Amino acid sequence: MIRPVNPYPVGLDLEGRRVVVIGGGSVAQRRIPVLLDAGAAVHLVSPEITPTLQGLADAGRIRWEGREYRTGDLEGAWYVVAATKDSLVNARVAAEAEQNRTFCVRSDAVNSGTAVTPAVVRRDDMLVAVLTGDRARTAEAREVVARALGEAGVAAPEAAQELRGTVALVGGGPGADDLMTVRGRRLLARADVVVADRLAPQRPLSELRPDVEIVDAAKIPYGRAMAQEAINEVLVDRARAGKFVVRLKGGDPFLYGRGYEEAQACAAAGIPCTVVPGVSSALAVPALAGIPVTNRGMTHEVTVVSGHLPPGHPESLIDWEALARMRGTLVVLMGVKNTPAIAEALLVGGRSADTPAAIIVDGSLDGQATYRCTLGSVATALETEDVRPPAIVVIGQVAGLPPALTAG
Ligand SMILES: C[S@@+](CC[C@H](N)C(=O)[O-])C[C@H]1O[C@@H](n2cnc3c(N)ncnc32)[C@H](O)[C@@H]1O
Repeated sequence: MIRPVNPYPVGLDLEGRRVVVIGGGSVAQRRIPVLLDAGAAVHLVSPEITPTLQGLADAGRIRWEGREYRTGDLEGAWYVVAATKDSLVNARVAAEAEQNRTFCVRSDAVNSGTAVTPAVVRRDDMLVAVLTGDRARTAEAREVVARALGEAGVAAPEAAQELRGTVALVGGGPGADDLMTVRGRRLLARADVVVADRLAPQRPLSELRPDVEIVDAAKIPYGRAMAQEAINEVLVDRARAGKFVVRLKGGDPFLYGRGYEEAQACAAAGIPCTVVPGVSSALAVPALAGIPVTNRGMTHEVTVVSGHLPPGHPESLIDWEALARMRGTLVVLMGVKNTPAIAEALLVGGRSADTPAAIIVDGSLDGQATYRCTLGSVATALETEDVRPPAIVVIGQVAGLPPALTAG
């Protein structure tokens, strides 16, 4: 039966209820995780299935029968998805569902089923479903809704009750706002107080509610620094006052981010604290410059080091001699000032002067620049290019690979 779609919107409670999916291709792969999220007991019938669905079957999360559909498969189903590539089979499935009075979605002919899957935008516990009867319009409308919700701050205007009096240490990624995680963005939109680092993405701060307190915890290299204790104090103090505090940091909070100390300070004060990992500049910035930190058949190891102390410094915890003997990739963070001394230590330790190197400045930001050089010339390159933080130095064969990216 073909007719224009005039659906009645409804939310189905599928918890523990049998849902039959016929066909194990890409449509099933998209639908089944959502059905599982809703608690459905999914029964998949298909001679072949995608590796992802195979993984769900192997893990016992769905029941899979590796055969063709046959009449009777829909017995006892509350809901049916006909998602084979063969429209005759889908039509037979839809016909059996109709006879059983079970709602059925047809992936190949939306108007021929008895149910339609909406496009959805999910924000925490809010679900907005879009149905237009036309795929392109639905996708477009969904985009509009998603954007509008984003601009409206995504979540509820105030911090949810359960977040009050807690702290979230959020990794902001290397700087570009679209390299923040979705979880990080969502929590940021709910913050009452944001304690932000200089290297954290700045644009999302401008989208916060006007009443959100923003504390600038900028730690400018070799310049004035807000003492870590003062930051810890702010986190604890505001959380104790019942606020939801987001500590927004550059990259990942636990890689040279002192995030652990902040988590400890919260724990000592009895303040619940969560960590949202971030996209670390240590891997992301070389990637953005087109440099893979490992490469099959070339480099099987990558070491991330802090260059904030020069080799030989009494407080240094790095075994530079051991690093000089390694053949893999060395990624140096916070090393602009000390890279000449670091290069020297590596050369003395036996690493070849013609080992390729690259300096990447302002990764993901407007001024991103890459300077290719060698271990022997990296000190000169830093001076000639007048490199200033934030920058990352990559040393190793991978830095000499021809660029694989055509733009960016
Ligand atoms: C205190 S560490 C923090 C690292 C951070 N937690 C992370 O996971 O990316 C700061 C150093 O990270 C590097 N860095 C961070 N963001 C960068 C960016 N956008 N471009 C280049 N280097 C960056 C620089 O070496 C900088 O000195």
